[in-house]
Amino acid sequence: MVPTLTLNSGYLMPILGMGTFSCDSIPEDELVEILLNGMKLGYRHIDTAACYGTEKAVSKAVLKAVEQKIVSSREELFITSKLWGTDAHDDLIVPALKKSLENLGLEYLDLYLIHWPVRLRKTEKYFPIEKEDIMVFDMKSTWAGMEECKRLGLVHSIGVSNFSSKKLSDLVDFAKSLLLSTRYVEMNPFCQQKKLRNFCKEKGILVTAYSPLGAHGSVYQGVDVLNHPTLNQIAHSNNKTAPQICLRWLYEQGVSIAVKSYNEGRMKENLQIFDWELSEADRSMIANIPQKRVTCGEFFVCPNGVYKSVEQLWDGEI
Ligand SMILES: NC(=O)c1ccc[n+]([C@@H]2O[C@H](COP(=O)([O-])OP(=O)(O)OC[C@H]3O[C@@H](n4cnc5c(N)ncnc54)[C@H](OP(=O)(O)O)[C@@H]3O)[C@@H](O)[C@H]2O)c1
Repeated sequence: MVPTLTLNSGYLMPILGMGTFSCDSIPEDELVEILLNGMKLGYRHIDTAACYGTEKAVSKAVLKAVEQKIVSSREELFITSKLWGTDAHDDLIVPALKKSLENLGLEYLDLYLIHWPVRLRKTEKYFPIEKEDIMVFDMKSTWAGMEECKRLGLVHSIGVSNFSSKKLSDLVDFAKSLLLSTRYVEMNPFCQQKKLRNFCKEKGILVTAYSPLGAHGSVYQGVDVLNHPTLNQIAHSNNKTAPQICLRWLYEQGVSIAVKSYNEGRMKENLQIFDWELSEADRSMIANIPQKRVTCGEFFVCPNGVYKSVEQLWDGEI
């Protein structure tokens, strides 16, 4: 079973979780079987979001996992979902969470996140995002809605995703800091996020790394992790694979991780990171890897909008 970390809400979060965002959509029943296989292998965290279109598959997988006694009950699992910008309006936050819970067939979520520091025009559809849909993001009232979700007992922990250190620092100033449990961010050897990690450590906020393999093979021109010379050199000397080097490095940074694989062999491979360690020489080679962010959020940028450039969206931390 995947080991856990303790969130500042007191709940345990598995260190390694299964991502369900994929640009190549697969039939729902196939995804259900993939998630079931993952749970058989020992994964207990499933990462979904309102906009991924995978909440219903997660619901079926959870139900089957309990029926087939892969897990003793839903409580053994950790389910994350996320609030999309079209629902980041004061009157829509609690209803959006209730809708996700209905899709997921759950009474509570383990973790609910503001997906992006973005508010979009109210509409039923999540995509495509038109430039005129982008509105001024009201962090205070959106966070108040998240705190209300927690107060109602609909979610165990709340957090944010894709917030710069600057935005996170503004949020911590007025949030009841004990309620802010996690901060999801792109993180891997190619995007090490040192500044943000130090800030989160100081504030007791757990960092969760998404795209831990640099969104390898995705349409976003992710990192070609399998052919990365430094990682392959380290992989060779440790008798491991380049993806295992990425995941082990993240584990050693004390973060939790959401990795996506829809292949049973690779799901198994990604779990084999807990009983060995990188050497000091490996760590310093990784520290010297040139940095690049894959997920920049260009779709929220518009010359007349709130964020006029990706630099502005990330407060220059890019
Ligand atoms: N909060 C956010 O804004 C946000 C943004 C992006 C992602 N996420 C979450 O984080 C999850 C993971 O991020 P990601 O999907 O961008 O990228 P990722 O996990 O870094 O990489 C996924 C890619 O790597 C491949 N892969 C996985 N294990 C492998 C291995 N051992 N060897 C070779 N290839 C391997 C996968 O292909 P196969 O499936 O064929 O194995 C897939 O193409 C997402 O699914 C989503 O749940 C959140």
